[in-house]
Amino acid sequence: MENFDFFNPVKILFGKGKIAELGNHIPKGAKILMTYGGGSIKKNGVYDQVMEALKDYDVKEFSGIEPNPHFETLMKAVEIVRNEGIDFLLPVGGGSVLDGTKFIAAATYYEGEDEWDILAKRAKITKAVDLGAVLTLAATGSEMNSGGVVTKAATKEKLAFGNPLLFPKFSVLDPETTYSLPMRQITNGIVDAYVHVMEQYLTYPVNSPVQDRFAEGLLLTLIEEGPKAMASETPDYENRANLMWSATMALNGLISMGVKSDWATHMIGHELTAFHGIDHAVTLAIVLPGLLTKMKEQRGEKLLQYAERVWNITEGTDDERKTLAIQKTEEFFQSVGIATRLGDHNVGQDSIDTISQRFIERGYVGMLPDVAAADVAEILESRL
Ligand code: NZQ
Ligand code: ZN
Repeated sequence: MENFDFFNPVKILFGKGKIAELGNHIPKGAKILMTYGGGSIKKNGVYDQVMEALKDYDVKEFSGIEPNPHFETLMKAVEIVRNEGIDFLLPVGGGSVLDGTKFIAAATYYEGEDEWDILAKRAKITKAVDLGAVLTLAATGSEMNSGGVVTKAATKEKLAFGNPLLFPKFSVLDPETTYSLPMRQITNGIVDAYVHVMEQYLTYPVNSPVQDRFAEGLLLTLIEEGPKAMASETPDYENRANLMWSATMALNGLISMGVKSDWATHMIGHELTAFHGIDHAVTLAIVLPGLLTKMKEQRGEKLLQYAERVWNITEGTDDERKTLAIQKTEEFFQSVGIATRLGDHNVGQDSIDTISQRFIERGYVGMLPDVAAADVAEILESRL
C-alpha cells in the first residue's frame, strides 16, 4: 500500500427529518446565502423544510444554478456574496448546486484577476466562505468531498478544482428528498457512483485488501439496489437510503487511500458533456467499457479480481473472463436504462477528433500514465 494522509471533516446528518436540525449546525447570526437549481426543491417541499429550519436566520437566495454549473452563472452569485457580506453558503440540490457553491465559496476571496484561473490554472485557494449542504440527488459524493467541476459555457470547457477549505462543514442526507427524482436522475446517480468506485479500484494491485473489499462492497450494493429502485413503483426508503450512502461513500476519499486512482474516464466524459451536453453519468457509461478494453492487458490483474469477486466469473481463459467482466459492466449500465454508445447520442468522428486534439494539447488524460492522450481517439472510436 502507498503512503497517505486521510482527512475528512464533513459531519453527515443522515436520515428522515434531518433537515429540521439545520439550525444546530450553522453559527447563530450567520448571514446565509441559500443556493439552488432550477426549482425542483420548490416542488418537492425541500425548500419549505429548509426555510422553516432557518427561520431565525437572515437568509438570501440564489437560484438558477444549472446542471453542469456554469462559471458565468456562479460569478453572479459571487457578486452577491461579496456585496451582501454573506458568511455562510447553503447549497440545496444535487452535485451541480453543491459544486457550483464550492466554486462560489472559493471565488469570493480570490484575489487574482480572473476567477476562472481557479480551474484553468489551478490557482491556489487560500480562503473560502464556510458552507454546509442539503443533498437531494445521490450521485457525485460532492456532499462529502472537497472538489467540484465547473463549466465555462463560452469556451465549452469543463474543469475540476478542489481544496480542503471546500469540504462542507456538514451535509444533510435525507433519502426522502430523492423521492421526487425522475428515474433518469436516479439511474444517473447509480452509474456515476459505480464509475467513481471503478476509477479508484480498477487500476493496479498495491496489496490493499481493505480498500478493495470496501470498493467491491459498494459495487455489489449498487448492482443489488439499482434494479430495486427501477422496479418499485413507489420509492422505498431503505432502497433510497442505501443508494444515497453508497454514492457518498464512493467518493469521500476513503477507498482511494493508498491505492492508484485513475480518473481518465471522467476526464474524457467531461469533454463529451462540454461539447454535447450529455449527462455526466451517461458519458461515463459510454467511455468506461472502451477504456477497460484498451487497458485489458495492463490492468489485467485487477480486472480478473473484479470479474471473480463482483460478477462471479470463474471459468474461461484470462482473456475471456476479462472480456466478460467488461461486457457485464456495460450490460449493467444498459439495464438501468442508459444508452452506452456514442452513436446513441449523435456523436461522430468529427467530435472524436476535436476531443482527442484537446487531450493531445493538454498532454495527459487521467492520473496514471497508462492512458495516454494519443489513446483517447481509439477509446472513443471503439464506442461509436
Ligand atoms: O436544478 P433542479 O431543479 O434542482 O433539478 C435538478 C437537475 O435538473 C434535478 N434534481 C436534483 N435533485 C432533485 C431533482 N429533481 C427532482 N427531485 C430532486 N430531489 O436533477 C437534475 C440534475 O442535477 P445535477 O445536480 O446536475 O446532478 P448530479 O448530482 O448528477 O451532479 C452532476 C454534476 O456533478 C459533477 C458532474 O460533473 C456534474 O457537473 N460531479 C461532481 C463531483 C464531485 N464534486 O466530486 C464528482 C462527479 O464525478 C461529477 O463530476
Ligand atoms: Zn462522476
